[in-house]
Amino acid sequence: MLLRVHRLSKLFGNDKAVDSISFDVNQGDYVAIIGPSGSGKTTLLSLLTGMLSPTEGDILYDNRRLSQITKRELYELRARELGLVFQFSELVGNLSIRDNILLPGLFTRKFSNAEYQRKCDYLLEHLLLSNFQNKLPRELSGGQIQKTAIARSLINEPSILFADEPSGDLDPENSLLVQNLLNEFNKRNLSIILVTHDMQLAYDAQTIYEMKQGKFDQVVKGI
Ligand SMILES: Nc1ncnc2c1ncn2[C@@H]1O[C@H](COP(=O)(O)OP(=O)(O)OP(=O)(O)O)[C@@H](O)[C@H]1O
Ligand SMILES: [Mg+2]
Repeated sequence: MLLRVHRLSKLFGNDKAVDSISFDVNQGDYVAIIGPSGSGKTTLLSLLTGMLSPTEGDILYDNRRLSQITKRELYELRARELGLVFQFSELVGNLSIRDNILLPGLFTRKFSNAEYQRKCDYLLEHLLLSNFQNKLPRELSGGQIQKTAIARSLINEPSILFADEPSGDLDPENSLLVQNLLNEFNKRNLSIILVTHDMQLAYDAQTIYEMKQGKFDQVVKGI
């Protein structure tokens, strides 16, 4: 899937949270977005995933304008093709960790039930969550909840993963688990758009953009 972003802007009142950003993401690309607090990173991801409407500019998925698809098509796109990890992830409180991870599959049925169960086991194992799978979200730590949200975002094998600070609540060891998992999915052609303050994570990306006051600057790696 190709994502094309063209002169995208978002104003809140008179403040430009996103200021005329353009970039492309091809299948299998890994893009990291870094930048100071308040520079517009979360706003950008909200625009790209259709949760906010832009003030100006276009977002195209496989040459289809996000602003021109129906609500139903947007829902389908999000459920089947986009994986989302929010900065402050919320799980369904009365479902177990395992069922939270499996939930996106119930709506889309992209794979068979047996495949979903297998994928779920794999994700639980890789994120060292197997022992917690029958617990409820309120019985988990912040980091365990974050890892659950990451597993949930990958269960449907999306085309593009949007992850906002996926390692924000994690210690270095758990951060590395997430890093390895993302790299592995990326090798299997998952595109990743990652917002992070964690430079170790950002360095895996082919392209790093620094966001400042709503604008993008490409960071040259290695200096
Ligand atoms: N719903 C909103 N209404 C008004 N202003 C908003 C809204 N959402 C974000 N903003 C403003 O837009 C700017 C960018 O916010 P955003 O959340 O995108 O920053 P960020 O780069 O994700 O920061 P952080 O690293 O702290 O998560 C900020 O000045 C913020 O106050
Ligand atoms: Mg943010």
